[in-house]
Amino acid sequence: MTEPRPRVWVSQPLFDDVIARLEEHFEVVSTSGVAEYTPEQISAALSKASGALVTLNERIGAEQIAAAPQLRAVANVGVGYNNLDIPALSRAGIIATNTPDVLTETTADFGFALLMATARRITEAERWLREGHWRQWSFRTMLGADLHGSTLGILGMGRIGQGIARRASGFDMRVLYHNRSRLPEAVEREVRASYVGFDALLAGADHLLLALPYAKESHHLIDARALLQMKPIATLVNIARGGIVDEDALADALAGGRLAAAGLDVFEDEPTVNPRLLALRNVVLTPHIASGSLATRRAMVSLAVDNLIAALGYGPNAGAPPNPIRA
Ligand code: DGY
Repeated sequence: MTEPRPRVWVSQPLFDDVIARLEEHFEVVSTSGVAEYTPEQISAALSKASGALVTLNERIGAEQIAAAPQLRAVANVGVGYNNLDIPALSRAGIIATNTPDVLTETTADFGFALLMATARRITEAERWLREGHWRQWSFRTMLGADLHGSTLGILGMGRIGQGIARRASGFDMRVLYHNRSRLPEAVEREVRASYVGFDALLAGADHLLLALPYAKESHHLIDARALLQMKPIATLVNIARGGIVDEDALADALAGGRLAAAGLDVFEDEPTVNPRLLALRNVVLTPHIASGSLATRRAMVSLAVDNLIAALGYGPNAGAPPNPIRA
């Protein structure tokens, strides 16, 4: 009799041809349609699984771990992993992995695109045009803010933040950044960015872009107090995680003219968008798509597959997945 193959759960429809690589080693349980799970359904899906390939939608915490006695590895398709309780997984001896690097440039491209759309009011102008408001060319229609020659503040100077800084030098922007730890001088020189304190970043930026990981410490870091320190002509762009911004405080600032505009790709309670933000004209809203080019999404899934195969002890990197998340 042949040994049953370990079971892996693939939580969402990804790319079948990439996922097929899992079938060389495992019994794969997957879903054909985009699925929304309750915590109990996630526990049930994990109850007989040795491994799981999940997206940021699926939260795995103590309750799911307790229901999953055979679980040995969780491969997250994404660089951010605030959907996973890493300390709890680590205590249970379960390896968790993510997909850094492969999405850096695509996400930085999008961050820059969102910054431009926000500063130059591109989506607002398009809506206005489609609604039939354009009667004649006018000198003062949809006046926005310049990127070139302005000061860009980047909060969170990891790989994606650095990618944004490189793009900014092509626009002759002055780049300030703040990060948990200061970058080595050689990297600062290469990306042409100057380190400043948090408050100086807020006060100095004409455009502030958030690219930091979400953690307890970054929850509502951009709150009413922080927004008050920003220039009223400034724009705020968030491609990190929604929970970093207090959305009600942001809506107050935007509605009250204390901030010019915001570009948001991420939200605190996705897929629900704060109705106050939906009602404002000076906000560009996108549905968490910063890493969403076809090539990059395929690369993310492929890397997550490599991670899962290796974490479960198969393939050329058996036992040494490329991207373990350290607790
Ligand atoms: C990530 O990778 O964390 C993105 O937010 C989802 O692609």
